[in-house]
Amino acid sequence: MVNLPPYSPLSRTASIIGTGSYVPQRILTNTELEKIVDTSDAWITSRTGIKERRIAASDEFTSHMAAKAAREAMEQARVQANEIDLIVLATVSPDTFFPATACHVQRLLGAKHAACFDISAACSGFLYSLEVARQFICTSTYDTVLVVGADRLSSLVNWSDRNTCVLFGDGAGAAVLQYRKESRGIITTFMRSNGDYGNILCTPGGGCALPVTPENFVKRFNTIRMNGKETFKLAITSMQSAALYALQQAGLAISDIECIIPHQANIRIIEVLADRLKVPMEKVYINLDRFGNTSAAAVAIALDEANRNGRFKAGDYVLMVTFGGGLTWASSIVQW
Ligand code: UT7
Repeated sequence: MVNLPPYSPLSRTASIIGTGSYVPQRILTNTELEKIVDTSDAWITSRTGIKERRIAASDEFTSHMAAKAAREAMEQARVQANEIDLIVLATVSPDTFFPATACHVQRLLGAKHAACFDISAACSGFLYSLEVARQFICTSTYDTVLVVGADRLSSLVNWSDRNTCVLFGDGAGAAVLQYRKESRGIITTFMRSNGDYGNILCTPGGGCALPVTPENFVKRFNTIRMNGKETFKLAITSMQSAALYALQQAGLAISDIECIIPHQANIRIIEVLADRLKVPMEKVYINLDRFGNTSAAAVAIALDEANRNGRFKAGDYVLMVTFGGGLTWASSIVQW
């Protein structure tokens, strides 16, 4: 368990006024994966809950998916591109090291007045980015912020490693945050990291530590490595403590939460988490069977689907909780 710092709420509230999401058209099923690596639909389904995932087209980049999700969120929020003050984009699979993918999205949207940057917090990136956006809004720096979680992990996967290639998919989710006078919005957020465990889930190469050279490329250092069992255990304990911390700070009981949106990595992780938090699975939003683990996009896509499917209504409390490489983990409670 972690030592929890005192939480200091700010006086202005940031509300989520629109959500959106996008996944590529191409569906890759477990049965198709059986032809690529030594695996089976039965193994993937029983060990992860994943049935299929989406794979981006060769000319479909992280920014393209992000911009599509963003347009949906902006439409729901009734916000025009020139009203956006800031774009915060979470990804570990950027189009380019620089410019930031947020800048590519700015260009695609025509959001000419926005400042833009990326956040690298792996699967926790969307919640980290929401909190960054909230801080800018609550300190009166900006009024309207576009937050996007987008990843194209198919370009980081080693397609001959059955331990990882069956897990991941591509997609993007977005939210428009705006300062509103009423108090509904993001009411508490918790973020934590532990760099000591960075090597259990990472892409070791491609940066300056192991640059792309012919030798490193052959060893596939630029693809995802994961110690699944260790990650599994830490994901449960970290998300449990993050969820409990957020509830405590918000002064809420778990029974006050209408919908829980966890990171979509593995149904077994989610079921243990729900059991420990003592929530029925009916309150937990799941889409990993259709999309697999989409990293920074996972919670964002699930939030958008749950929103559009009427899983919560105005005034309800929604708890989001996530865990990823870094290690990083986070939780956030929103009053919708
Ligand atoms: O997004 C960040 C968060 N990510 C996560 O939270 C992921 C956390 N980890 C997991 O979800 C699970 O650990 C995995 C799904 C990755 C693996 O499940 P597991 O039950 O921990 O399996 P394992 O790694 O212990 O492997 C069990 C067996 C091994 O065979 P042996 O050594 O027992 O003969 C693996 O080689 O399953 C084998 N295996 C597979 N078999 C068929 C591993 N991957 C596959 C596969 N198909 N795709």
